[in-house]
This record gives sequence, C-alpha cells and structure tokens, in this order.
Amino acid sequence: MARPRFRPYGEYREYPVEEMERRARALAADLLRRRTVRDFADRPVKQRIIEDCLRVAASAPSGANRQPWRFVVVTDPAIKRRLRQAAEREEEDFYERRAPNEWLEALQPLGTDEHKPFLETAPYLIVIFAETYGLGPQGQKVKNYYVSESVGIATGMLISALHHAGLACLTHTPAPMRFLNELLDRPRNEKPFLILVTGYPAADAEVPEIEKKPFAEVVRFV
Ligand SMILES: Cc1cc2nc3c(=O)[nH]c(=O)nc-3n(C[C@H](O)[C@H](O)[C@H](O)COP(=O)(O)O)c2cc1C
Repeated sequence: MARPRFRPYGEYREYPVEEMERRARALAADLLRRRTVRDFADRPVKQRIIEDCLRVAASAPSGANRQPWRFVVVTDPAIKRRLRQAAEREEEDFYERRAPNEWLEALQPLGTDEHKPFLETAPYLIVIFAETYGLGPQGQKVKNYYVSESVGIATGMLISALHHAGLACLTHTPAPMRFLNELLDRPRNEKPFLILVTGYPAADAEVPEIEKKPFAEVVRFV
C-alpha cells in the first residue's frame, strides 16, 4: 500500500490561556442563546451566508473521512409547497394514528402539531441526506463508516454556524421521510436525515419554556 502523505498542521492556532478562556466563554454564551424556532419570517437571507455555514458543515470530521453527507437547499416555492404537503400528510397520520401516547406526552410541552406552515414561510429548507454507501467509478458499492455519527456531527456544526451568523433554525423530522428522495430526485443510497428549516424568526416568535438538564447531571469528570 502507498505510504500516506502528511503535511504540517499550519492552520492550528494556539492562544494565550486567558484568550482561550475568553473565547470558550464567549462561544458558550452565544450558543446558549440558541433555541429551536417554529415561527419564521419570510424575509430573504443572502445565499452566501447559507453557503458559508454549509462550508462549516462539510468540513466536519467523518468516519474514515467518507464525508457521507449531502445538503439539498430548497428555496423554490413550488418545491417547498410540495414538501409541506407531503410532510403534513405524514405528520397528520403520525399525530392521529401512529404516535404512541408516550411520544405524544413527550411532545406536549413543545406544542407541536401536524401543521407545518414554516415549510413554506422560511426562506431555506436545508434537507440533509446521509449517504448510506458510496458509489465507485464503476457504480460499485463503497462502504461508509459511522454514517449517522458523522452526519449528526456535521448537522451540529451547521446548526451552530447558522446560529452564530444570526439565523434561527428548526430541526424537523417528519416520519417517514422517504418522500424526500422522490421529491428532490435523490438516489437510493441517500437516506433523508433531517430538514433544517432556516431563516429569521418571525417578529412575534415564541419558544417553549423548557429547561436543559443541570450541567452536573450530564457532565462528569473522572
Ligand atoms: C433529531 C431531532 C429531531 C427533531 N425533530 C423535530 C420535529 O420534527 N419537529 C419539531 O418541532 N422539533 C423537532 N426537534 C426540535 C426539538 O424539539 C428541540 O431541539 C428540543 O425541544 C429542545 O429545544 P431547543 O432546541 O430550543 O433547545 C428535533 C430535534 C432533534 C435534535
């Protein structure tokens, strides 16, 4: 096997400790203001901002560097309408028939239901697909590794980048999501992961009053 090639890690920057503390604190304060928004303004957002946030997502670490993510950015009102109609059909079935009581109880504090107007109001629907396997030059299957971990990390970085830029988003997972393959003309080896509804919050947007678990419950140093 060929010897792997290495180069110096020239991008790395070390900061004085005080500056590290300041940076960590500042980012934490910024990201702690992030909330999931479900009421969006129809105000346009410059595409260049979305592109830069997607560059962050696409730079994420991934199992064996397979980068098994695909981002389909929907802005076309006709596609958004069809996506909303399909999602609301699934969601109606979910809320009225499929959802077990336990799940409905867990959702109750969020006040969600089968109506998804944000799928048409928000300027961007970033539909994220997970490439379950790759395709080689002759169309042969190429294995991907840790696909959901990798796409989850990329999505987290995207959510942080969008928030950092001053945008709001909603992680939306209409179930099942296979309709997205047909609607967006994606191949069989791509599995819909989730939709990031993205834009400005509506002027009167409200968020549910829910709490995060105490730090000590979720973090342990040993
Ligand atoms: C994987 C995942 C799927 C989610 N799916 C939905 C969804 O379909 N609809 C929705 O309204 N919120 C959805 N959410 C948002 C969560 O309800 C929200 O993150 C949670 O209530 C915490 O609120 P916060 O994001 O404001 O901190 C989802 C979040 C995640 C991480």
